[in-house]
Amino acid sequence: MNIYSKEVMEHLMNPQNAHRMPDADAEGSVGDPSCGDSVRVFIKVKDDWIEDISYLVFGCCGSIATSSATSVLAKGKTLDEALRITEDDIIDALNGLPDQKIHCSNLGVSALQKAINNYLVKVEKDNSNENSHSGR
Ligand code: FES
Repeated sequence: MNIYSKEVMEHLMNPQNAHRMPDADAEGSVGDPSCGDSVRVFIKVKDDWIEDISYLVFGCCGSIATSSATSVLAKGKTLDEALRITEDDIIDALNGLPDQKIHCSNLGVSALQKAINNYLVKVEKDNSNENSHSGR
């Protein structure tokens, strides 16, 4: 019997959105020091929603499947909605993970949150630069 669900196997055998994004609006990286796995998430934002998302992952089967599932869940969501995606949402989308792989669900979610936060900081900086240049 496979320890992974059918959903995990599908993401593992055919990872969604797994590529670099040279024209990303922002990115976020997370590494898990306990296992050495890492994920880098790229986002393209349009009018406050995630128009496109991709990632590069270096890690275990669990980190590949959870990064893929994270990208599928986040695509097309508003930034607020995407920020509310939890590890449990990923685990649910994958119809469960083995106990020893639960921590893998943290990588994609954390990298996504970092990418969004980096994007928001960038927008705020751009806005304040614009305001200072316009003499306000
Ligand atoms: Fe660490 Fe999977 S074993 S992310």
